Amino acid sequence: MKITVVGAGAVGATCADNIARKELCQELVLLDIKEGIAEGKAQDMMQTATLLGFDTRIVGSTNDYAKTAGSDVVVITSGLPRKPGMTREELIGVNAGIVKGVCKNILQYSPNAIIIVVSNPMDTMTYLALQDTGLPKNRIIGMGGTLDSSRFKYQLSQHLNCSPSDLNAVVVGGHGDTTMIPLIRMATWNSVPVTQFLNQEQQDKIVKETMVGGATLTALIGTSAWYAPGAAGAALVEAIVRDEKKIMACCVSLEGEYGQKDICLGVPVVLGKNGWEKIVDYKLTEGEQAAFNKSADAVRNMNAVLETLSL
Ligand code: LAC
Repeated sequence: MKITVVGAGAVGATCADNIARKELCQELVLLDIKEGIAEGKAQDMMQTATLLGFDTRIVGSTNDYAKTAGSDVVVITSGLPRKPGMTREELIGVNAGIVKGVCKNILQYSPNAIIIVVSNPMDTMTYLALQDTGLPKNRIIGMGGTLDSSRFKYQLSQHLNCSPSDLNAVVVGGHGDTTMIPLIRMATWNSVPVTQFLNQEQQDKIVKETMVGGATLTALIGTSAWYAPGAAGAALVEAIVRDEKKIMACCVSLEGEYGQKDICLGVPVVLGKNGWEKIVDYKLTEGEQAAFNKSADAVRNMNAVLETLSL
C-alpha cells in the first residue's frame, strides 16, 4: 500500500504523522511545492519511527510527482489556510488553481488513486476535483463532515461531561460556518438520545459552537487548526485501506440522494477499499431537509464562482 499526502503544511504533516503511526501503508510520500519542507518534515517524522514503533517509510518530495507514482490513496491538503476573521469560502480564488494542478499531476502518476480533498472551501474543491478529473464519483471524497462530527462529539462531551468515544453524532451539509448541520436529534450517548439530557438552550449552544468550531480555533491560534483536520484525513484513509465499511460523514457527489444533484455535499457514506461505497439515508425531518437544501444553495453559489475563475 502506498499513500501520498500533498501539502506539507500543518494539516498535511499531521495527517502524514497519523498515517505513519497507524502503519496504514509501507510507503508514505509527503509532497510540497516549497523547497525542502516535505523532505525535512519526512525526515523529522522518520526519526520518530524507533521512538513510536512504526515501520512505515516516509519520503519527502519537493514537487516531484514521479515519487508519488502508484499511490493507492492521495490526500490533498494544498492551498492557503484561513487567517482569523476569514471564511473558508474566501480562499477559493487561490486554492482552486492549486487543487486543479495537483489533481492533474497526481493522476499522471497514480491513475487508480482514491482522492481525499481537504483544501478549502472543501465542498467546492471536491466538486472541482470531480469535474476536472472525470474520475468515477466513488473515488473523490471531501473531508469535512468527519472533522465536524468529531468537533460535534467534543462539544457534546463537554456539556454532558462524558467520554467523546461514548457518543454517536453526525454533521451533514457543507463544511462552512453557516452551512454545516449538526444533527442533534439523532445524536446518542451510548444509544440514548442526547436530547434527553440537554435542554433546548444547551442544544442550541452545542450546535452553534460546533458550526463555528474551526473559526474559534483560527481566532485562538492565528491560523487554521491542524490536529483534528489531520486526524480526520487519516481516519478516512484508514477506513479505506483497511476496508472498514465504516459510516462516516463525507462530502460526495449527490445524484438525487438527499434531494440534491450536481453537487458535492456532506452526507453519511460507507467507506471501504473502493472509496465511498454507499450513501446512507438518515431520513431527515422536514426541518433538517430544509436546512440541507439551504446549505446546498450556498455551496452551489460557491461552485458557480469556479466558472468565473480562469483556471
Ligand atoms: C477547519 C479547516 C481545516 O475546519 O477547514 O479547521
